[in-house]
Amino acid sequence: PAAVVVLASGTGSLLRSLLDAAAAPGYPARIAAVGVDRDCPATAHAEQAGVPHFRVALTDFPDRAAWDVALADVVAAYSPDLVVSAGFMKILGPAFLERFGGRILNTHPALLPSFPGAHGVRDALAYGVKVTGSTVHLVDAGVDTGPILAQEAVSVRPDDDEAGLHERIKVVERRLLAEVVAAVATRGIVSDGRKAVFP
Ligand code: GAR
Repeated sequence: PAAVVVLASGTGSLLRSLLDAAAAPGYPARIAAVGVDRDCPATAHAEQAGVPHFRVALTDFPDRAAWDVALADVVAAYSPDLVVSAGFMKILGPAFLERFGGRILNTHPALLPSFPGAHGVRDALAYGVKVTGSTVHLVDAGVDTGPILAQEAVSVRPDDDEAGLHERIKVVERRLLAEVVAAVATRGIVSDGRKAVFP
């Protein structure tokens, strides 16, 4: 199976769903390691699943460039075929992209290119859209700008608040991410300009 390093910063529910998917017989990917940039519950999910984990915090480095190189080094030690950013709330830098570019996936809680950034759910609600959703895409040097691999819509309800809407989006994200990781692991990705497709 393809080796996957998962990066997370938050509650780690997407990580949890990937660990569960990977535990199923025949799933074409295995979680080789979990990396975090801060103390967060994601670590406990890795621990529970018996998966190695590491923490590379920006505050432990003199600058972003040094942090980026350190993160790339520790991830490279697991020789991943794929890196998955599953609620990792830091922008990956040039050193990281140079090493793993084209095989880094990110999941975002909105229908890109609408509402990129750290508050995709809040921004969609504030705008008043009636449909938002989940996007899984390849990471490039921009913020949530890389080629889109999969998207699924989630309707906004009139009485939605950020937490409720985010939770419904996450239900979709957990499934979509596991599906895309499996598809990439078995079929790879063909890039055609700004588009990415499964062969
Ligand atoms: C997910 O909704 C993910 O799309 C989002 O953080 C959440 C992580 O959930 N990521 C971003 O907003 C990245 N810009 P989790 O901690 O429960 O896995």
